[in-house]
Amino acid sequence: MFNLILFGPPGSGKGTQSEKLIAKYGLKHLSTGDLLRSEIANQTALGLEAKTLMDKGQLVPDAVVIGMIDAAITNHPKARGFLFDGFPRTKAQSEALDELLNKKGASINVLLALNVTEDELIKRLLNRGLTSGRSDDTKEDVIRARLGEYHNKTASVADYYNKSGKTVLVKGEGSVDEIFDSLSAEIDRRM
Ligand code: AP5
Ligand code: MG
Repeated sequence: MFNLILFGPPGSGKGTQSEKLIAKYGLKHLSTGDLLRSEIANQTALGLEAKTLMDKGQLVPDAVVIGMIDAAITNHPKARGFLFDGFPRTKAQSEALDELLNKKGASINVLLALNVTEDELIKRLLNRGLTSGRSDDTKEDVIRARLGEYHNKTASVADYYNKSGKTVLVKGEGSVDEIFDSLSAEIDRRM
């Protein structure tokens, strides 16, 4: 298996690059944000609970997202690998993910961290908010809350994987294709 974490703050391009990377490398895309938005669209109890937190720009509880990832991994026993997008976002999530993969005799091969300045992130998200229908993109205070959660709880996930030499920083500004080429080069070196 080849398992990749595409990492970075809100608006850094994780979703955009994931679409291209799964097409090129045949990995299964697991985005906890997308999974949560689909729970909201289906009006499940989990979705309703998550929506209140997401609308405020706060992380949903670890147990909720770990449960979703556990189920998704179990449901794709033949996957040649997973691309994790927006997960893990805390140390507890990182440890749980390592354990889930370990049970399959697998592990994370690399964490690619997209590096984008805060001004550019806010610009991209407000711009997407004009058309996305994502309620957490339209208000600048909610965007700032998301960035705050990232700095306080999530940024250290890159340090966690750096201890085993798996974290690689990639420039996240420039054209989508340029960034895709940089990410692909890092993957090719390890696959
Ligand atoms: P999630 O859905 O993961 O959102 P996010 O991390 O805030 O990130 P985004 O999806 O907004 O950005 P992205 O990095 O994917 O960038 P994109 O490619 O879209 O999470 C949402 C919420 O769910 C969280 O706040 C939390 O409440 C909850 N949640 C999710 N996972 C969780 C977890 N594990 N634990 C706890 N809670 C969790 O690009 C952004 C924009 O920029 C787009 O408009 C795009 O077109 C544009 N763009 C992309 N690349 C470029 C480029 N190179 N140049 C110019 N524009 C670009
Ligand atoms: Mg995304």
